This record gives sequence, structure tokens and C-alpha cells, in this order.
Amino acid sequence: MKPVEAPASPPDHRPAADWRGRSLVLVGLMGSGKTTIGRRLAARLGWPFVDADAEIEVAAKMSVAEIFARFGEAHFRDGERRVIRRLMQGKRKVIATGGGAFVDDGTRALVLDKATVVWLDAALETLVSRVSKRNHRPLLVGKDPETVLSELMAVRNPLYAEAPIHILSTNGPHEETVDRILATLRAHSPEKDA
Ligand code: S3P
Repeated sequence: MKPVEAPASPPDHRPAADWRGRSLVLVGLMGSGKTTIGRRLAARLGWPFVDADAEIEVAAKMSVAEIFARFGEAHFRDGERRVIRRLMQGKRKVIATGGGAFVDDGTRALVLDKATVVWLDAALETLVSRVSKRNHRPLLVGKDPETVLSELMAVRNPLYAEAPIHILSTNGPHEETVDRILATLRAHSPEKDA
């Protein structure tokens, strides 16, 4: 008889039970709702909210689009790395990151170590319909958003999947997505109220 092999142990996808002592970091593609959901999640928890792209804009005194246009993506990524490193310090907060932040190996390792990471995932058609409402995103200017987003999905989803929490950001009310995040977190430390 063939010996039964033990299955390889799955990656540890559980959020730490002490998530209330750490920042919550939202990652995911453009249009997944990180800023909108993050703001509401922070309000529900009574925590401060910080948008990493907005912090980069304050530090650089120009918009993300201007940084890309004048200095290029690599320069933006350097600023993004520095800002997220700074945001990992200090008091707990809810942080929305730009879609590419978690792709950087150093940033991803740091954020996974210091915070509780939530991957906001969404169907391609949901992302496309959301990003099509605004035209401020440099990676999409003059391009077909469906093509760009599906290429980014293929490259980035395996990296976003390293987040311990995976939540679907649907077309329904944003509060429902916030409810799903909170329910998932509370399931890991149900003894306390949040
Ligand atoms: C980017 C996403 C943007 C912004 C920049 C690059 C990306 O943020 O950081 O345009 O690489 O996916 P949002 O995800 O908030 O749109």
C-alpha cells in the first residue's frame, strides 16, 4: 500500500489575536476601496485613519500624478517605502496603502511583521467600474483599465495573498465590507469588545 504523505502545512493565514494592539493595513489593487473602507473601518473602531498616498503627497508637496510625471515611478516608490516605514511607528491606526506598496519585498515584510494586513480583493469588473469614475491614477492614463488591472492582478494577487485576512470588496454597501472585516478580526479574539 502507498504510504499516506502528510499534507504540506498551509501558510499561517490567521490574524494575531492581539490585532487591537497593532495597526491595520489595507492592501489591494486600485479600485478595491482601500481608502473608503479604511476610513469607515477606522471610524467604527475609533482609531485614526491615514492614507499613505495622501502622506506621500504632503511630504512631496505634489500629487501622486505629478510625482510620476516629473520624477518617474521609481522615485514615487522610494517615497512610498519611506512613508510606510514611518507609518509603522507610533500609535495604532488604520492605514490605506497605494496598490503597489505591498509589492515591494521590504515593505511587505515590514508591514506583515508590524501590523495586521487585510487584503481587499474585488472582481475585475468591479475594479474597472470603480477606477473608470476618476482619471487621477498615473498607471492607467491613456491605457485600457481592464488590461492593466488584469495584468496587475496576475502579478500582485499572489503577493496580496500573503495577508492574513482576505476580504471580498463587493459592489454592495461599503459598511457590509467593513462588517466582514470586523467579524473576521473579532472571530480571532471574541472575548473582548471592539
Ligand atoms: C498605484 C496605486 C495608486 C497610487 C499610484 C500607484 C499602484 O493608489 O499609489 O498611482 O501601483 O497600484 P490606489 O491603489 O489607492 O489607487
